[in-house]
Amino acid sequence: MLTGAGISEESGLKTFRGGDGLWENHRIEDVATPHAWHTNPELVLSFYNQRRIQMNGAQPNPAHLALAEMQKTFDVQIITQNVDNLHERAGSKKVLHLHGELAKSRSETIEQLIYDIEGDYLNIGDKCEKGYQLRPHIVWFGEMVPKMDEAIALVKQTDILMIIGTSLQVYPAASLVQFAPVNIPKYYIDPEASQIFGIENLTILKQKAGIALPALKNRFEKS
Ligand code: OAD
Repeated sequence: MLTGAGISEESGLKTFRGGDGLWENHRIEDVATPHAWHTNPELVLSFYNQRRIQMNGAQPNPAHLALAEMQKTFDVQIITQNVDNLHERAGSKKVLHLHGELAKSRSETIEQLIYDIEGDYLNIGDKCEKGYQLRPHIVWFGEMVPKMDEAIALVKQTDILMIIGTSLQVYPAASLVQFAPVNIPKYYIDPEASQIFGIENLTILKQKAGIALPALKNRFEKS
């Protein structure tokens, strides 16, 4: 399962490129780049604190729940571009976060020092055990995607690929679909879905994830 912002839309979290997308009030460069962090860390922390408050106030929706339910019958691996924790809160166990996690912080100097954030806020002055400032555990534009190789390996060995609620505009995440075995069934569930160049055996479901996924789950369980 390759998921994007669209799967959390029915939980009330805004997508990035929708009409009322998140970035309208903030330019990406101002909040989601290493440069932003170095020039205005207060703004960056405040932006992600707002996202965390929204996430903690949101609930998993029928799409997240359907994927979690499917674990009872199938070996479900989720690769998500989302930084929210709604897959985990729905009960999904195998979740790889390509772009990091809102619920975690990490040392700005020692990348391996990663911590859970209790509550909503990460503030200036919150430090790692070595005394360095903590930053959001998010992959910003211009940064490497450390889990990309792991994600590629998972996609290469899957029997079914579902692409859910993503515009496939952001690389390298979008390139993951190209690594799926040619002959396996693939589904693209997104009201704005269209053909993906070079991808065979693709079924397009132009529906909301909260409608399409519970129905697909029932279908798979019967087959
Ligand atoms: P986008 O905002 O680019 O795309 C969201 C997709 O969700 C669109 O294709 C919508 O049509 C679709 N959508 C909206 N409502 C839906 C629903 N109820 N059910 C299913 N689909 C729905 O978000 P992403 O593709 O996830 O990166 O964006 C990828 C990355 O760009 C994000 O991870 C983030 C952003 O910049 C970083 O922060 C590094």
